Amino acid sequence: MDLPGQVSGSFAPVKVGLIGLGFAGTVLHLPSLMKNPRAQLVAVSDVSDDKLSEFSSTFPNLDVRKTIGHHSIIEDPSIDAVFIASPTPSHTSIAIEAIKAGKHVFCEKPISSTIEDAQLMVAESDAHPNLILMIGQVLRFWPEYVQIKKIIDDGRIGKPVIARTYRANPMPKAQFYEEDELSGGVIVDLGLHDIDFLSWALGPVASVYAQGGNLSGRGDVVDYAQIHFNFESGAIAYLEANWALPENFPFSTAIEITGTQGMIAADNTDSRASYQLTINGQKRVTTAVSELNGYYFEQDAFLRAVQTKSPTPIPASSALYSLRLAIAAKESIKTGKEVILAALVSPSKVAVS
Ligand SMILES: NC(=O)c1ccc[n+]([C@@H]2O[C@H](COP(=O)([O-])OP(=O)(O)OC[C@H]3O[C@@H](n4cnc5c(N)ncnc54)[C@H](O)[C@@H]3O)[C@@H](O)[C@H]2O)c1
Repeated sequence: MDLPGQVSGSFAPVKVGLIGLGFAGTVLHLPSLMKNPRAQLVAVSDVSDDKLSEFSSTFPNLDVRKTIGHHSIIEDPSIDAVFIASPTPSHTSIAIEAIKAGKHVFCEKPISSTIEDAQLMVAESDAHPNLILMIGQVLRFWPEYVQIKKIIDDGRIGKPVIARTYRANPMPKAQFYEEDELSGGVIVDLGLHDIDFLSWALGPVASVYAQGGNLSGRGDVVDYAQIHFNFESGAIAYLEANWALPENFPFSTAIEITGTQGMIAADNTDSRASYQLTINGQKRVTTAVSELNGYYFEQDAFLRAVQTKSPTPIPASSALYSLRLAIAAKESIKTGKEVILAALVSPSKVAVS
């Protein structure tokens, strides 16, 4: 099997254009793109002159074309693939424009903040089966979460029956996060990571009940939520997603899955610089966050799929399914009622039109 960054046979590096030079673009994606021999970054773009100047002064030796807005990246015939790291409300229009122009697309999560827009993206992708659309649901590539999934699949904890997750950081500073219509709030933006991981690891969700609200007073979004899932398998889960925190609160995350024969957990709370994995009570420190992390591995999976013309491990329809679960949790908060999810929305049956 090929290691990350290696492919049997010879493949030219994928020529990449990066759209959006904010946190996700420069802190999460750029370092991994620079490390991966499968990628050749040829151009970057932002709508803000200040961001482009900041980029030039932070990376003075990076020989890439810098452009205003995303159109010239999409129109550049030398570019094979675009990485979309712009704010959530722009994902749909940029992704669709890029697919129509013949580009492979890696798009940051959430796929969109509305089901309707996400459906448009999936439909455009389905209409171009030779092009890849992959949404960055990064936990599916985060080393400890990959191990958890493998341990479950290998039957090492028996049948998974209980899951608990926690994910917290202060609401990010960029303005769009404060507006429900733009970011979708803490459930669609942050809680979505655990929602996606649990539905990947434990299967379809039968019903959702959630409580939460705007507790920090910033913006109009739900910034704190407690979500309960009943899975079709009979497993139950409790997820907490929290943006209602003081400004210097460190990014914290934890997961615990109990099965009929064991328990597995991971968290970053002992040291924010690494994750600890616990298997049946035995703790082991695993990857340092500064090493190759989930962002590297998700990019690698995307680039490999482009090079080898094979499907990505995350069909866009499954990112749409995770968004549906997040929106159902928001609906439950609004109505105060449990939302029963029809078998219609399970990953194999998501309607795309
Ligand atoms: N996977 C993760 O862990 C993770 C973490 C943070 C953010 N994200 C996601 O990444 C996306 C961006 O979030 P962020 O925090 O980096 O936001 P940000 O505001 O820090 O950065 C977004 C940048 O995109 C630029 N931009 C806006 N429209 C553009 C366009 N049409 N063309 C080019 N550039 C454009 C903005 O000027 C800004 O510089 C969001 O969807 C967010 O949910 C994912």
